[in-house]
Amino acid sequence: MTLTIPPFLTRFAIAIVGLLVILAFFAAPIATETSQRGYRGTGQEVVLNANTVERQLEASQVPAEPWPLEEGDGPLASEVYENVQALGHLNAGNFDRLMAAMTEWVSPEQGCTYCHTEDGNFASDDIYTKVVSRRMIQMTQHLNSQWTNHVAQTGVTCYTCHAGQPVPENIWFDDPDALHAGGLVGDRAGQNIAAPEVGMTSLPQDIFRPFIHDEANIRVIGDEALPHGNERTIKQTEWTYGLMIHFSESLGVNCTYCHNSNNFGSWEQAPASRAVAWHGIRMVRDLNVNYLEPLGPVYPEIRLGPLGDAPKANCATCHQGVYKPLFGAQMLADYPSLREPGPADLQDPPRQQTSGLND
Ligand code: HEC
Ligand code: HEC
Ligand code: HEC
Ligand code: HEC
Repeated sequence: MTLTIPPFLTRFAIAIVGLLVILAFFAAPIATETSQRGYRGTGQEVVLNANTVERQLEASQVPAEPWPLEEGDGPLASEVYENVQALGHLNAGNFDRLMAAMTEWVSPEQGCTYCHTEDGNFASDDIYTKVVSRRMIQMTQHLNSQWTNHVAQTGVTCYTCHAGQPVPENIWFDDPDALHAGGLVGDRAGQNIAAPEVGMTSLPQDIFRPFIHDEANIRVIGDEALPHGNERTIKQTEWTYGLMIHFSESLGVNCTYCHNSNNFGSWEQAPASRAVAWHGIRMVRDLNVNYLEPLGPVYPEIRLGPLGDAPKANCATCHQGVYKPLFGAQMLADYPSLREPGPADLQDPPRQQTSGLND
């Protein structure tokens, strides 16, 4: 015997479920705020969800200073300590203060021994985390002094990326999947699998190595009305769109935060934030090429990607879903030693900045 559900019951059930959905919708209203960022009538506005912003604001609380900055000249760290290559020019009190802050920012649970050997020999470089940290100090100083056209005076500290964790939440590796042919079903050419890096769309997923490590051309739009002269393909266009989705998701904004959707290629009609983003692209390439990738040999194998490459940064490493990291908190003001390289590092010739092929 088969059990048949009378049709009126099914209809009744559907009606009840429908009603519940509608009730749930009104019970938890989505509070959105809209602010205009471009010319009126061009739809250049940001829509923010107040609930999400509230959560993000909570997560963006920055740790307090360990103790106030010492003014005046006590003995230098280079006189008191044995192996200080990056911060020797600080007075010893402020050096200790920075150690305490770095512990709060990077390894609050593990403490000093995350970067120092257990035997209490603070001068020893026998632990990879210390060697990485020294380079991180130099990288932070380089960002804050050389890339003010992106990070402005707000700048970054270790906390911007690390947020209290030894491994930042958002890092990337080369993805073996993106390069693989699709076996029996043919080559999917690195697309059509709803990858998280492109917001679960089916756009090409291999966006980080080409665009924010190497200097692949992002521009695809022709500048003539007739379809000749522009040799960019649909695949290349989709590839650019994949990257743009990463931008939008990293900053928690839509496309019109940086474009007038009437003409995605136009700089004249775009809000100023697009130019900031342009510098950001070059800045992230510089970070990945000159600082993060070269650390590969220092890391234990467990920290490397499936293809053996070092962990690298993208827009989300700093932004974490917010248009300005930590909503623009002015943390760096309390740590002037992270604003620029010390005299020892200034002796290095300035590092080569990557220049886009499409500049
Ligand atoms: C996130 C990594 C990290 C943490 C955590 C950390 N340190 Fe350091 N520490 C370093 C680095 C890197 C250097 C070398 C700086 C340089 O080369 O200028 C250093 C150097 C030192 C030195 C100088 C040793 C010498 O004689 O050369 C002392 C002392 C020190 N740290 C104390 C501490 C104390 C105390 C803590 C815990 C409150 C701590 N550190 C936590 C990374 C760290
Ligand atoms: C632009 C973002 C960024 C900033 C700023 C930054 N870091 Fe990092 N840091 C990274 C990335 C990316 C990694 C690689 C993650 C990994 O080890 O898997 C990393 C790794 C590390 C590691 C190794 C952790 C491990 O367990 O492998 C330490 C220690 C560290 N950073 C300390 C610091 C310190 C100290 C500062 C500030 C002086 C700093 N970082 C600033 C992005 C950043
Ligand atoms: C955070 C800012 C930002 C956001 C958000 C953003 N873009 Fe872009 N977009 C840029 C920048 C900067 C360039 C130019 C890159 C370059 O020239 O190196 C660009 C380039 C483009 C191009 C190529 C233009 C040309 O000249 O051929 C297209 C198309 C595009 N974006 C579409 C989008 C779409 C669609 C979205 C939303 C999914 C989006 N963008 C979100 C900053 C942004
Ligand atoms: C090293 C950390 C870091 C990385 C990585 C980073 N940014 Fe930023 N970005 C910042 C900081 C800090 C600011 C705030 C500067 C200020 O206060 O004006 C900022 C500001 C911006 C702004 C301007 C926001 C506004 O409303 O004024 C845009 C747009 C932007 N970033 C886009 C990007 C894009 C796109 C990427 C990836 C290609 C990126 N950022 C990567 C640190 C970073």
